[in-house]
Parts: sequence; structure tokens; C-alpha cells
Amino acid sequence: MKIVIIGGTGLIGTKLAGKLRQKGHDVVPASPRTSVNTITGEGLGMALSGAEIVVDVANSPSFEDSAALKFFETSGRNLLAAEAAAGVRHHVALSVVGTDRLPECGYFRAKLAQENLIRTSKIPYTILRATQFFEFIGGIVDSSSDGQTVRLSPALFQPVASDDVAAALAGVTLGAPVNGVVELAGPDRFSLDEFGRKYLTTKKDPRKVVADVHARYFGAELDDRSLTPGSNPRLGLVRFEDWLARPAA
Ligand SMILES: NC(=O)c1ccc[n+]([C@@H]2O[C@H](COP(=O)([O-])OP(=O)(O)OC[C@H]3O[C@@H](n4cnc5c(N)ncnc54)[C@H](OP(=O)(O)O)[C@@H]3O)[C@@H](O)[C@H]2O)c1
Repeated sequence: MKIVIIGGTGLIGTKLAGKLRQKGHDVVPASPRTSVNTITGEGLGMALSGAEIVVDVANSPSFEDSAALKFFETSGRNLLAAEAAAGVRHHVALSVVGTDRLPECGYFRAKLAQENLIRTSKIPYTILRATQFFEFIGGIVDSSSDGQTVRLSPALFQPVASDDVAAALAGVTLGAPVNGVVELAGPDRFSLDEFGRKYLTTKKDPRKVVADVHARYFGAELDDRSLTPGSNPRLGLVRFEDWLARPAA
């Protein structure tokens, strides 16, 4: 089966491509690096020709509010139109747990706009909403740092390993479209400041984490519901401490 991965050269896309190839599928990683661009439309029709499934794991090169919104709206429109023309029968997209609960966060507004385009298209779809990847925690800590102090919210946080995201994505890609949302989170749930502390301790980084209920996460104050999944999420297998102990972490 021909499966096109938009963003197939990125962190998740590369892992997903490997998993789907192992199962014998004809996988096409599509991104500017492979001369396919969902913003300009370059190479899109050719890449999608004969494809049965498209997985969208592209990301905006800029996380600035209006740039991210423009990216996901333009990319989503161009991609869904090209899929309709090519007769694609399953559109899979990777989104973020809580996209509908954090309107103060511009990036989440952009992901919600992407999801809404999918919901109103006529293509059968599955949206996998994952929590934050372990690989993203260093970026959260850095963006919350002021010198030697890192202010992080004590709100509950339940991140997941990118390997678990790719595995869950492979499963929903090869399953029937659910025309709805599936949630995925990691096996451990504790406060965001605690994750930050564990991360810095393992890295032997001297910065100190301060729990602050008003600390903003990409523009938004958090509560215990903001970034955690609902009642029945799929859970990844990799524990944060085991991931931290890996040399590549
Ligand atoms: N980070 C998190 O914690 C988190 C949590 C939940 C969900 N997500 C979602 O997971 C998805 C994948 O994230 P990631 O970390 O794997 O991303 P990533 O490593 O930054 O990769 C982004 C991919 O998007 C491609 N891309 C950029 N512009 C494009 C364009 N105009 N046309 C086609 N492809 C384009 C890039 O291609 P080139 O290599 O050619 O530049 C690259 O393959 C994102 O949609 C994100 O919202 C992230």
C-alpha cells in the first residue's frame, strides 16, 4: 500500500516511515527536503498519485502565533485538496492533547485550525492527539529560563516518548478511520516543574526550577487539565527516567 508521510523527514516522520516500511508498505516521505511542499504545492500532486493513506506530521518552521496559524491553515487546505483529487481514503494527522482547551496559546490555536479543516473535509480521517514529546522538554526548560532560574507551572504534565508516538501513529494509520480523535500520553503523570527538575538533574545542569502557578507555557497559564488527556487515553510504554538514562536523550 502506498502511504505518503507529509513531514516524513522530521522526528516523528522518520520513525513512522521505518515502522511502516518494516510492515512492507511503499512509504513516501514528503517534505521540502524531498521536493514536496504543502505551502507552495510543489510536487504534491505527483507524491500523492496512487496513495491510499496520507499521514500529516509536518510542523511549522516558526512557532510565532500568526506564522504557525498561516502554516497549518495553508498546508492543511492545500493537502486536503490534493488528497481529494488523488482519491486518498484515509487522512491521519498528529495533533496535541488539549488543543481545544488552551486558546491563549497561539500554537494550539493553529493546531485546532488544522484539525477543523480535517473535520470539515470529506476525507475519512483519524486525528492522534499526543502529549508533549520527551524530546521537547529541554526546549520548554530553555524557553522558561531567566539566567539560572527556570519558572515552570506546577500543573500536571504527562509527556510521551517519540518512539511511542510513532508506534501509536503506525497503528492508527493502518487501522480504519475513526473520524474523530484518539489521545496518547506517557505512562507517568506529575507536575511540569518536577519534570523540569528531573531533566536538569540528569543533565547535571545547575539551573534551579521554581514552581510558579503563573508561569506561562507558550503564552498560557496552565491548570491540571490543560495538557493532560481525558479519561481513556492510550499510554506509551517508555518511562521518563528510562528515557533520560539513554545516551541519546
Ligand atoms: N513537539 C511536541 O511535543 C508535539 C506534541 C504533540 C504533537 N506534535 C505534533 O507533531 C508533529 C510532528 O512534529 P516533529 O517534532 O516530528 O516535527 P519536526 O521534527 O520539526 O519535523 C517537521 C517536518 O515538517 C516538514 N515541513 C516543514 N515545512 C513543510 C512544508 N512546507 N511542506 C511539507 N513539509 C514541511 C519538515 O520538512 P524538512 O525536513 O524538509 O524541513 C519536517 O519533515 C507536528 O505537527 C506537531 O504539532 C508535537
